[in-house]
This record gives sequence, C-alpha cells and structure tokens, in this order.
Amino acid sequence: NTPKNEPLRGKYMKSFGYHSLMRRMPTVFSEITGLLKAKQFNLANKEEINNVIDKLELLLSEILNNNPLRKIDSTSTLSLMWNQILEKKFNSDSVVTWFETEWLFTENYLYIRLKEIFEKTKTLQNYDPFKQLKYNAFDESETTMIAIAEFLIIQFSKKELDITSLKALFNQMLKICLWGNRFDLSLNIGKSKNITEDPLEAIVSLDKYILADHSDEIWNTLNVSTDKSPKIIDIILDNSAYELFTDMCLADFFVTYGFAEVVVFHGKSIPWYVSDVTKPDFEHFLNRLEKQCTSSALQKIGNRWNNYYTAGKFVIECEEFWTLPHCYSAMANEDSELYKKLGTSQLLIFKGDLNYRKLIGDINWEPSTTFKDALCRFQPTAVVALRTLKCDCVCGLNSDYETKIDENDKDNNYLSSTNYWQVNGKYAVVHLSK
Ligand code: F6P
Ligand code: MG
Repeated sequence: NTPKNEPLRGKYMKSFGYHSLMRRMPTVFSEITGLLKAKQFNLANKEEINNVIDKLELLLSEILNNNPLRKIDSTSTLSLMWNQILEKKFNSDSVVTWFETEWLFTENYLYIRLKEIFEKTKTLQNYDPFKQLKYNAFDESETTMIAIAEFLIIQFSKKELDITSLKALFNQMLKICLWGNRFDLSLNIGKSKNITEDPLEAIVSLDKYILADHSDEIWNTLNVSTDKSPKIIDIILDNSAYELFTDMCLADFFVTYGFAEVVVFHGKSIPWYVSDVTKPDFEHFLNRLEKQCTSSALQKIGNRWNNYYTAGKFVIECEEFWTLPHCYSAMANEDSELYKKLGTSQLLIFKGDLNYRKLIGDINWEPSTTFKDALCRFQPTAVVALRTLKCDCVCGLNSDYETKIDENDKDNNYLSSTNYWQVNGKYAVVHLSK
C-alpha cells in the first residue's frame, strides 16, 4: 500500500493507481478504438485511422510494460509546456516510468500523449475521442435533469426568499452539485450510472454518506460582504453532461440571488480524463438544452443559461494549467497570473476527484489532516472542494468517520479487506478553507 504522507504511485499494488493503470487504462483504450472503428470515416482517412489504432496499442503496451516516459512530439503551446516539465523531471528523478513515477503525473501524461496521437493526423487533429460518450451521458441523465429543471424554474421565479428558505435552497443546490460528481465516465467507462430516483429526495437520503460537511461554513462565507467588484465566483469544472448541469444549477443560484454577478467556469483545453468539460462540450451542452430537447423545462433553463452566457454572466475559460500535471500548491510559482486572477474571486469551487487530488497534492494523508493543511498553502481566496471519493487519498475527516462507514455498510462483508469506500464514489466530502 502507499506509505502515509507519500504521493500515490502506480507501483503500490493495493492502491487504486495500480488498479487504474493495469485495468482501467486498457478499457479506456479499447473504448476509443471501438468508437474509432465504429465511426464511418471516409475512405481517404481509413489508413490514418488504422495508424491511430496502432499507435494507441503501442501506447498501451508502453504503460503495461512500465516503460520510461518520453517527451511529447508536438510543438503546440501545451506540449512545449509539458516538455519543460518533463525535462525537469528527467533531471531530478533517476527513474521516470509509468508505475514508478507519481500516479498523478503519469495519468495526466497519458492524456497529452493521446492528444499527440490525434494531433499528428491530417484529418483528426481536433477529434475528441470521448465526444460520443459525453453525448450519450446526456441522454442517460435527461429524465433527472428534467425533474431538477422543473423544480428550479418554480424556485427561481421566487425572487424574494426569506433567509431560511434561501439557505435551504442553497443547501439543496450545493448537494445536487456535489452528487453530480458521482456520475463520471472514467470510472464507469461508457456507462454513466442512470439516476432513477427523484433527485431532490435522493440528495437527502445521501447525506449519511458525506464524511465531512462544511456547507454551513460555505454559506457563512457567501454572506460576508467584500468589496471585490465585480463579484465573481469560479467553478473549476470536472465532468460533462449531468455534472455540468448540476454546476450550472448552483451557478444560477449564485446569479439569481446576487451572490455573484459573474460565474467563471474553468474547463479543459484538450480532451481530458474521458468526460471532463472542454469549451466545445460547454457550448454544445447549452445549445442542446435549449434547442434539441423535447422537454419544455430543459428548453427554458437552456434558454436562461444561454442568455447568461451571451450576457457574460456565465463565462468559460480553459487555461492550460488544468491540463498540466501540477498540484495546485505549485500554482503560485508555475502560473502566478492564474493564481492572481483566481484571487479576485469570492469563492473557488473545485469539482470532483481529480481536482481534489491536485488540491491535496495526491498525498496519502492521514484522514484527520485538515483540508487547510493538506492544501499546502494553496489559498488564492476561499477554496471549496465538492468531491465524491474515487481514489485513495482523503483528508479532513472527522474522528468518527469509520463508525459512520461501518454503520452504512454493515452488511458488506468485504468491508475490512479493502479500501472500497475510498474509491467507489459512494462517499463524499464538502470542504472549505479560507
Ligand atoms: O483514474 C483516476 C481518477 O482521478 C480517479 O481518481 C477518478 O476515478 C477519475 O480519475 C476521475 O474522476 P473525476 O471525474 O471525479 O475527477
Ligand atoms: Mg472527470
């Protein structure tokens, strides 16, 4: 297992990193290959596609054979940034291989290598190998989105809410947004888990799976007036489709009730971790809601959010930093401009597992380590993490967390033998540091 207070690495065979590199990566690769084969490309690029498939196979065997990493063969800005980082890495670590090097580093590296493969083609330079999966995920969660949209349209028409109702609504939006992170495609490749229950009832029943909950503190932070102008809240996005929908619900709450004039969403500049949001995903999502759904509630909410987007109340930015392998404690040094820009925000909300890993340095902390300590001085402004647990690093848990897990999973006979609660997306944390 990963030693305490050390970064996760693929070589620790009981860790999720090992499982991920050995078992999940082959699934990701066969999914991409399957989609490429299924797509009706024209004859002219058939050869090119076969070439891509060969390269994907080679890359997978590099991983499984624990080969050394190499530089990126591309001159894009992002690749050049990666190459500088790789150069430093080669100079500082004697062994830089898929399983030996920090898992956070190698897993990020995988996605720039995938990008390199497509960039080198003539016809697939901007091809997003995960696009279809993200589109399918929208279909699978449509019923749930309709239920939430119908609720929101009624709620948001009540402009004058008393403070108790406003706080209750905030809590609902925050929890909807939190649990939206359960449904990423990288864990359940190709199949986002269908959400069948009434989402508003479901979130109440899920409270018992929250192992640390700073919701009240976040609410108090929102209600402290500052002189920052314009009032901005930033959401550092994770996944497309349903999770993005829940992010926009929370953002709409902020805009409607004056907690922010602008919500800046941060997405990825290249296809990333299967389901992460890129700018084309963001725009496609808004258009699909407004123009391609049959539900009038989704059309209405889509229209409302498209208007926010046009009016500059919703903004999307895809800075390169999010697709580099840095932990966020390195941001002040590595991208001081971004650090400064984020500092002008009221609140930064980091969504999901990967953002969480980068926030806490992907270190195997003692679970009782405070979130603030685990951030290692990353504090441009107030920082919130909304994350369902999908890998083995965690911090900020209350001392009774084991009792809580035992209580929830008492019928589970594999409880003591694995760290399953850390990786199956069933548990969650809501942290604040300011
Ligand atoms: O494979 C690693 C990982 O970071 C997991 O920890 C998680 O399962 C997944 O990728 C991404 O999850 P999320 O979309 O919540 O960041
Ligand atoms: Mg993701």
